[in-house]
Amino acid sequence: MSGIAVVTGAGSGIGAAISRELAARGRVVIPTDLDPAAAAATGAACGSPATHRLDVTEPVEVAEVITSIVTEHGPMEVFVSNAGISRMRRFLEITPEEFDSTIGVNLRGLFLASQAAARSMVAAGRPGCIVNVASMAGKQGRVPYLADYVASKFGVVGLTQAMAFELAEHEIRVNSVCPGYVATPMQDRELAWESELRGVDVEAVRELYLADTPLRRLELPEDVARVVAFLAGPDASFVTGESLAVNGGAFMD
Ligand SMILES: NC(=O)c1ccc[n+]([C@@H]2O[C@H](COP(=O)([O-])OP(=O)(O)OC[C@H]3O[C@@H](n4cnc5c(N)ncnc54)[C@H](O)[C@@H]3O)[C@@H](O)[C@H]2O)c1
Repeated sequence: MSGIAVVTGAGSGIGAAISRELAARGRVVIPTDLDPAAAAATGAACGSPATHRLDVTEPVEVAEVITSIVTEHGPMEVFVSNAGISRMRRFLEITPEEFDSTIGVNLRGLFLASQAAARSMVAAGRPGCIVNVASMAGKQGRVPYLADYVASKFGVVGLTQAMAFELAEHEIRVNSVCPGYVATPMQDRELAWESELRGVDVEAVRELYLADTPLRRLELPEDVARVVAFLAGPDASFVTGESLAVNGGAFMD
């Protein structure tokens, strides 16, 4: 493994699992997160030489942190743009500010972070791999109460293809993963919101997620992490521009 891996939103859920999986496969992983203590906890679990606070919505911070990471720990071979937020609202009730904030983290923030990573890889003149975390909601809009999130994740799928197309000449592969119903703190919040919006209890909502999943269990962060590790590794060396479903069959396209 010749270069380091950097993960955004690595302090929780899927980002933490991705960091652990890459570390278990021998990568030096630098976890970053808006919450520096959460990033540090993941770093401790991964034997990371450093962790960083990184808010993906701040272009100057994004550029500075990525530059300082590669200066200190050597060139980056793998970058995972995982940071994301969700908020459940009926479409008719989403405010412009809420829409902007979801797009600001999930699409603009991912653009900023993945662009800074790509710039660093191009400057190093070495092949690399970027994995963007999209969603099942990046491929279908038949998802309740998440219109702004759906818009942001469709954007991630499109951006992934455009990045893959332009960065291929630099031997940088760009792919995304599209998880389904993953048991993380984000899902805990969504279960509570959806139970309120539907007027049913949380267990009933969880049953809806299960009923919607042919493999009949909730997805684990590790299910996503293993697919990210595949996309970031040599077995996927001829895969680029792909948005890979990892959802137990909950949405097939
Ligand atoms: N949980 C699911 O069911 C599910 C399904 C599909 C896709 N996803 C996507 O997976 C990714 C991770 O989700 P999760 O379920 O682990 O969520 P989570 O809320 O458990 O973790 C998200 C992490 O991102 C960090 N974060 C939030 N805003 C940030 C910012 N501006 N800059 C940097 N870090 C920031 C948070 O501090 C947190 O540590 C997100 O992009 C999410 O949209 C989740």
